[in-house]
Amino acid sequence: MQWKRRHCCTNMAGILFLLSFVGVCLILGQHSFLAGKKSQENDVHPRFSKLEVNHSMAKQNTWREETLPTAQPKSEANHSSSAEDGLKIFLGSNGSLSEEFRDKAEPYNYIINEEEKCLEQYPFLVLLIAVQPHHAEARNAIRQTWGNESVAAGLGFVRLFILGVKGGEQRPDSPLQRSLQAESQMYHDIIQQEYTDSYYNLTIKTLMGMHWVSKYCSGASYVMKTDSDMFVNTEYLIQKLLDPNVPPRKKYFTGYLMRGYSPNRNKHSKWYMSPELYPSNRYPTFCSGTGYVFSGDMARLIYKASLSIRRLHLEDVYVGLCLAKLRIEPVPPPNEFLFNHWRVSYSSCKYSHLITSHQFLPTELIRHWQHLQSNKHSACINPPKEKDKVRRLRQRKLL
Ligand SMILES: *[C@@H]1O[C@H](CO)[C@@H](O)[C@H](O)[C@H]1NC(C)=O
Ligand SMILES: *[C@@H]1O[C@H](CO)[C@@H](O)[C@H](O)[C@H]1NC(C)=O
Ligand SMILES: *[C@@H]1O[C@H](CO)[C@@H](O)[C@H](O)[C@H]1NC(C)=O
Ligand SMILES: *[C@@H]1O[C@H](CO)[C@@H](O)[C@H](O)[C@H]1NC(C)=O
Ligand SMILES: *[C@@H]1O[C@H](CO)[C@@H](O)[C@H](O)[C@H]1NC(C)=O
Repeated sequence: MQWKRRHCCTNMAGILFLLSFVGVCLILGQHSFLAGKKSQENDVHPRFSKLEVNHSMAKQNTWREETLPTAQPKSEANHSSSAEDGLKIFLGSNGSLSEEFRDKAEPYNYIINEEEKCLEQYPFLVLLIAVQPHHAEARNAIRQTWGNESVAAGLGFVRLFILGVKGGEQRPDSPLQRSLQAESQMYHDIIQQEYTDSYYNLTIKTLMGMHWVSKYCSGASYVMKTDSDMFVNTEYLIQKLLDPNVPPRKKYFTGYLMRGYSPNRNKHSKWYMSPELYPSNRYPTFCSGTGYVFSGDMARLIYKASLSIRRLHLEDVYVGLCLAKLRIEPVPPPNEFLFNHWRVSYSSCKYSHLITSHQFLPTELIRHWQHLQSNKHSACINPPKEKDKVRRLRQRKLL
């Protein structure tokens, strides 16, 4: 019995050790946070297929990471040159599409605006947070956490929720519109334009943010566009990436770089892009819409470029097209674990060294933020405990 017990425990220890090893490999493999280096080339975003990937295999509907089998690369030269021609035609380098579009590109009317946000001082950072009109809980969670002005007290920090009008709620006296007005009176952090707030109108939402910055806050040093289900470490963003102690950069654009992606041609996908709308088989490099950061001067440039580019509903691809037209390349962040378009498993160590993580419910956001605030300084001193590793494996359904 004694022996059996010890034997059992030795085995357990062995298994635990092996499992922790597997766990560490998985974590390094997945987020490559501490040591490993993840090649972005192997990282397939569910919304898109890489050029080498057989398009008909690319039918994903979730944000979860998935790996697609890699097919034979096609003949590079032929392929990319036709892709570039397609891109040129799309961007109207020879003037074809652009003229046709110009007339329809007027901005929508502002229903709620904050025209005076930047009158006193040009802020160091403007946060443009895409949110649906009825998601007041998400806005409140962000106000209490990463959107709280006190993370950048004195520097100038403007938080703006950008939204359209919920379908069927156009009337100013609708209950939702009235509660938005009240919320706006209280926090002065909402801007709203008169377009239907829907997934397919996200590009309009982003352009509204660009328009606002270029019209009312053109001297802001930096702007970040992000979403309401994100965790954003604004303190790390400001202090480490942007650094208020050095002169602000110009024509700067960074985020989670998506390179070499091609349109999803699967009609059943949420991310379907028809060849009629976008004929090229390649997207230019763009940054994941979950969170990208740019210098204040870019807002006007992007907005202006957009006036001659047909609007596509994938807002991040669209902004990438504007950058391609401007011939401004998004730059990779100083390390590739800063911006994440998926959810990084929480640890105070990881979260005090990243900028974005995706898929947060308001309650989770508050819980993790509070934990991080009290643990950020001692963050990486204590290595994760064995039982944490086991728990992580369990969460990954490996146990
Ligand atoms: C792509 O995959 C589908 C189904 O797996 C297959 O029928 C088709 O032949 C493939 N096409 C190419 C070009 O490999
Ligand atoms: C490009 O590929 C097409 C078929 O995919 C082929 O007909 C054409 O000759 C190729 N062009 C060059 C320049 O290789
Ligand atoms: C632009 O280029 C495309 C493809 O080369 C051509 O079909 C179209 O006629 C051109 N348009 C103009 C206005 O030159
Ligand atoms: C923002 O942070 C400050 C300082 O930590 C705190 O006093 C304030 O209540 C916070 N604001 C909100 C809306 O939670
Ligand atoms: C986008 O907004 C415009 C203006 O309100 C509306 O006409 C259009 O139907 C909306 N598109 C979608 C797909 O919701």
